[in-house]
Amino acid sequence: MPVGPESLPQPNLTSVDINAIIMASGEYMHGILERRKVLKWLCKLLTGLFLAGFYPISRAKAKKLKLMILEGDSMKLPRPKTDGGMPLETCIKTRRTVRSFTPQPLRLEELSQLLWSAQGITEENGYKRAAPSAGALYPIDVYAALGPDSVEGLNGAVYQYLPATHAVKTIAKGDLRRKVAEISLSQMWMARAPVIIVITAEYPRITVKYKRRGVRYAMIEAGHIGQNIFLQAEALGLGAGIVGAFDDKKLIHVMEISGFPEPLLIMPVGHIKYPA
Ligand SMILES: Cc1cc2nc3c(=O)[nH]c(=O)nc-3n(C[C@H](O)[C@H](O)[C@H](O)COP(=O)(O)O)c2cc1C
Repeated sequence: MPVGPESLPQPNLTSVDINAIIMASGEYMHGILERRKVLKWLCKLLTGLFLAGFYPISRAKAKKLKLMILEGDSMKLPRPKTDGGMPLETCIKTRRTVRSFTPQPLRLEELSQLLWSAQGITEENGYKRAAPSAGALYPIDVYAALGPDSVEGLNGAVYQYLPATHAVKTIAKGDLRRKVAEISLSQMWMARAPVIIVITAEYPRITVKYKRRGVRYAMIEAGHIGQNIFLQAEALGLGAGIVGAFDDKKLIHVMEISGFPEPLLIMPVGHIKYPA
């Protein structure tokens, strides 16, 4: 007795039947996709409601920031762009220390891009970052002091950049830009930049391996990060300044930065006011 498929009763299908089956399965798949769309939409709605209810920014701002996701007390930033923009050679050629800014706010995407260029993770499934680090120990942290109208949707506060999640976390409330400028030998031009980026080093993270030399390595790393920020600002059509003259202890105190960090660089960023 044959045991192959030919032993099974063969359906007697006409081409009309086959067309009907194809149509029916198409409709079935369409139904599944529609249900998926509704589920996705529901997830977005719930995330939005959660944000509006719990995140310590105004409801109106939370509504605007559709892209943000709450993770503990941190907010996810928009995904950075890794192509396009101004050619690197042009950015190097045109980069200058900018000390004059318009009050025009930055877009959230621009802040995201600047922080990513500083310390963003650039490996698909890894941990390595935009700037090199001796022994990949990453002793540097990056903060941004913002005013109430500095970045669309964000409050006046000090935010810490969290590379692992490409997110920011509020560490101090209020617009502290004037205080930061005062601490920096009263270079008040800094306070007019919508965003003031502060780069700090926590030496034990690197001296544990490289001893005293680790301090040198951390400073070199901060320089790389600073140049990345300069060039990214340029590519976005923004301008950045750089400041090394400030009171270390006061800066850490005012910005409420915890741990044992040493501030190494301050970089005010914004739209350039011409003549710069
Ligand atoms: C480590 C470091 C510290 C600096 N500190 C200050 C500062 O406190 N205030 C300031 O206005 N410029 C500061 N600058 C910017 C320099 O004055 C500037 O880079 C230099 O004049 C060259 O100009 P350019 O950057 O436009 O090419 C600093 C630059 C570096 C690298």
